[in-house]
Amino acid sequence: MGLIIAANWKMHKTTADTEEFCRAILQDVEKFAGVEVLICPPYTSLPAATNILGGSSLKLGAQDLHWEQEGAFTGEIAGPMLTDLGVEYVIIGHSERRHVIGEDDSRIRAKVKAALECGLKPILCVGETEAQREAGSTNSVIRQQLLSALEGMAAGDMDELVIAYEPVWAIGTGKAAQPGDADAACSFIREVLAKYAGEEMADKVRIQYGGSVKEKNIDSFVELSSIQGALVGGASLEAESFSALIQAARKAV
Ligand code: PGA
Repeated sequence: MGLIIAANWKMHKTTADTEEFCRAILQDVEKFAGVEVLICPPYTSLPAATNILGGSSLKLGAQDLHWEQEGAFTGEIAGPMLTDLGVEYVIIGHSERRHVIGEDDSRIRAKVKAALECGLKPILCVGETEAQREAGSTNSVIRQQLLSALEGMAAGDMDELVIAYEPVWAIGTGKAAQPGDADAACSFIREVLAKYAGEEMADKVRIQYGGSVKEKNIDSFVELSSIQGALVGGASLEAESFSALIQAARKAV
């Protein structure tokens, strides 16, 4: 299974910044062979990114979507508006949406369903807080987040699914998980998926690690057989360092 590395820009970059990044990263695409690379800019930058990256091997993701396809939901963006712009992936249930915006499991489940219905591939984020880890409940939190989000999902949709294991305490803190802990959590995720949909389907799901991933530490994650890529925040904002990170990952597998 090839690696999938996604840039999660969060609430960063104007159209001009996006154009500059996309032009720069395009220079290096040949160095990414075998790695699926996607950029997840803010909604407002999707048209600029699609104009520049369209036709290249780089793919586009969105950072969220609404669970309905249209309607009276002021300020929201629906799946068909994203596919219309050439978006292929969508991040769902990021910890900043769960813990800062207050999104709950039922909303996340509805978003996974909506994404699949309109042909978007979900990147479902799961992960424990520091207090949950200290209380020894990492696995139960992960199991609950996974099973709740996937409830009702057909096993046949599993090959469209990416899971990002992102311990909340590692996001944006510079304090990445120990590779052994990430390995244990990602192996556990696959076990839960196997119980849910069977081993064959579970083996098709790509699992990313996310949380303070950098050029210097990505090798220690992607060399693990339980991990097939990374969801990268801070280190994805500069084209040069993001490119170096992808190349380091490629060398490590
Ligand atoms: P970070 O963010 O790489 O800045 O820790 C990761 C994420 O939130 O997806």
